[in-house]
Formats: sequence, structure tokens, C-alpha cells
Amino acid sequence: MSAQLLIRNVRPYGDDAVDILIEGGEIVEIGASIDPDAADDVLDGAGAVLLPGFVDMHTHLREPGREDTETIETGSAAAALGGYTAVFAMANTDPVADSAVITDFVWRRGQEVGLVDVHPVGAVTVGLRGTQLAEMGAMAAGVGGVRMFSDDGKCVFDPLIMRRALEYAKGLGVLIAQHAEEPRLTEGAIAHEGAVAARLGLTGWPRAAEESIVARDALLARDAGARVHICHASTEGTVELLKWARGQGISITAEVTPHHLLLDDSRLEAYDPVNKVNPPLREGRDKAALRQALADGIIDCVATDHAPHAAQEKCCEFVNARPGMLGLQTAFSIVVQTMVESGLLDWRGVAKVMSERPAEITGLSDHGRPIAVGEPANLALVDPDTEWTVESGALASLSENSPFDGLTLPGVVVATVLRGEVTNHGGKVRAPR
Ligand code: NCD
Repeated sequence: MSAQLLIRNVRPYGDDAVDILIEGGEIVEIGASIDPDAADDVLDGAGAVLLPGFVDMHTHLREPGREDTETIETGSAAAALGGYTAVFAMANTDPVADSAVITDFVWRRGQEVGLVDVHPVGAVTVGLRGTQLAEMGAMAAGVGGVRMFSDDGKCVFDPLIMRRALEYAKGLGVLIAQHAEEPRLTEGAIAHEGAVAARLGLTGWPRAAEESIVARDALLARDAGARVHICHASTEGTVELLKWARGQGISITAEVTPHHLLLDDSRLEAYDPVNKVNPPLREGRDKAALRQALADGIIDCVATDHAPHAAQEKCCEFVNARPGMLGLQTAFSIVVQTMVESGLLDWRGVAKVMSERPAEITGLSDHGRPIAVGEPANLALVDPDTEWTVESGALASLSENSPFDGLTLPGVVVATVLRGEVTNHGGKVRAPR
């Protein structure tokens, strides 16, 4: 008989407290009071809120190629600490994940580490160059079972290549996730095009660079009868386009990052490259539209775009700094601050945007499931009433580029459970296998 884990005194979705018995990676009993002698291990939930384990559709784990900034092991630890049980690792590694050799490696390495399911994202085009489709079928058929393809970091800018990619994806039953950025409109751009960038003398990244690709890809998806997913939606106009496309019956989904929910371009006044990111931090009205769209389901989910960078790539002139910021360990707290404390989402809503929708969009059948008997025990235990202060040097990531350093945020992840195994408890990660 496999080991049994009893989680006592937890509140599923913030409801009344129960005990939960897990065996063989599944929830086998939920009751008001389960005899602790029935279990091999007991975890005291102390009245914490129980949610399905989080699923991140968008993370950069940098392995292979930039293991000085993050590895599958360190990124998995950050994910477990953040309440995640599954993450999707983007393809902009070195070499690029544009073949089954690489995507299979990423999956296998994630399983070896065993802290979180690391699903590889395959590149849409060879070398992310945007000119020739990668062997999507071979990647989908590999042990990595790639179900999402993206050139993230780069836009699939050629409309004919994007059209073909959508057609192939439809045939394979996989998803194309677009980094929506019309490259001609963002040449040399390093900040949101607005009053702040103008005053600071930073070249602007116009909203239209994102929105023109969102509109184009919605139309291409319509014609191909395919699904398209928009990475890191950042503007009010993108929200309007998503509403329009949904109204037309187009299969379009979208994610928003924690940093676009919390921060805006007023951050740039300090010239600190930790705030440099693609797409850039926008304005207050974009932030408000993104929050409302997430609450209304126009934006489906939160995705971190966790993007670790070495100190020398961030501690330099703003213009030369690499874009991107850490996100895995702070995402939950930022969702609490921006969406729960503001009354825009309740705990069922948080489960939806952090877990259920990303699992549905990517076709995962074992994550983002309801907390119920017979379901896989992939769970996040969270305490919304405790605050913590972010110390970027103390995060599990190998990099320290968190724009939230020094901020006191609400909500801590108390424990994470992957298939019945505790991967994080009290901020301590289980030793990787
Ligand atoms: C990403 C990265 O560093 O890989 N950076 C970022 O600012 N989001 C890639 C990208 O989307 O540019």
C-alpha cells in the first residue's frame, strides 16, 4: 500500500475547514475529522486556504544554455515555493528548444528533479528566427509531449508563417502562444511609449505594436479555425480586441503577468533596469483594464513570465539591460494584493486564474482539477492573512532581478503538494531527487 498523507484543518477555496486524506497521489477522503492514525504523515494546515496547485503557462528556466542564471532544478524550487505544481518552460534557451532532443530533455530533467511538472514549450520556428517552421509534430510526439508552441521573446511576425503554424497546430491539437510585438514598431524601444518615457528620453514601445499583432492573429485564428493564445497582454486596447474577438466566436485566450497587474511606468523614474521588461510596464489605465479583464474572464489566467537574468545583464545602463523579471515566488502574493484585496476575485476565482484555466488551455488533465475525492492531489496551501517582505537575494532563483525586492506583500504559500508528495512546506523545498 502506498504512503498516506493526511492534511488536517484546511479550508478548500476558503470554505469550512476539513481534513483531506491522500493516497497513491490522489485525494481518497475528505471529512470533518479524519483519524490521524490512518496516515503515515500528517500536515497541519492550521486553517489555511487550500487551492489546486498553480499552473504557470509562461516561465523561463534558462536550461540548457544559461545555467548561470537559472536551472530546471532552481526554477523548479522557486515554482514549488510559489505554490506551483506545473510550469511551462519557454523555448528561448540556448540551443533553442526547436527539436524533440531539447524538449524531451527538458521534460526528463524536470521529472528527475521531481518538484514540479516542467512541460517544455517548443519553438514555432527554427532558432526563433521566424522564417521556417520547426518540427512541431516531432516535438508533440516526443516523451516531452509538447502541447504548446511559442517563439516567446520574439514575435512570429511573418503573417504567412503564423498562418501555417496555426494550421499545423490545429491538426496536431496543440496551442500556439504568441509574443505579440510588431518588430518594426519596437525597433530600439526600451519603455512604454508615453509621457514618462518621453520625459526620460527612453525610446517608446507603442501599444499598437502589441495590439496590431493581437488583431492580426485573431483574424488568422478565425480563418484557420484554430486556437491562439496571447502571452503577457499589457494594454487596454488588447483587452478591447480580446472582447471583440470572443464576441466573434474566435478561439483566443490570453494571460496577464503579476507585474503588469501591480506596476506601471511611473517605476521607470528611478532608471533602474530591474523594471525593464517586455512588454513594458504600461500606464495606470492599462493596469486597471487588465485587472478588470482578469476578473471578467476576458483575460483567462495569470502567467509569471519568470525571466531570470545575471547581475551583469541588469546592473548596467538601462538601454543595455536585458528585459525580464523574476515572478514565480511572488505571483500568488501579487494576485492577493491586486485581485483579492480589491474584491475583484474570491478564492474560487483565484483557483480559476492561477490553476484551472491555464491547465484547460494547455490541455493538462492532471492539474487544475477540483479539490474532490478521486482527483489528483496537486495542491497549494496558502495563508492569506500573513505578510512577508520580498528579499530578492533570498529567493530560490539563481538570479535576483525581482522588481518587488523590499516590498511587503500579503499572502504566503504554506505548502505545495505534487501527486501527494509535499514539495514545499514552510518555505523549505524537499530535496530534489
Ligand atoms: C523574456 C526573457 O528574458 O526571456 N523577457 C521579458 O522581458 N519578458 C523574453 C521576452 O519576452 O522578451
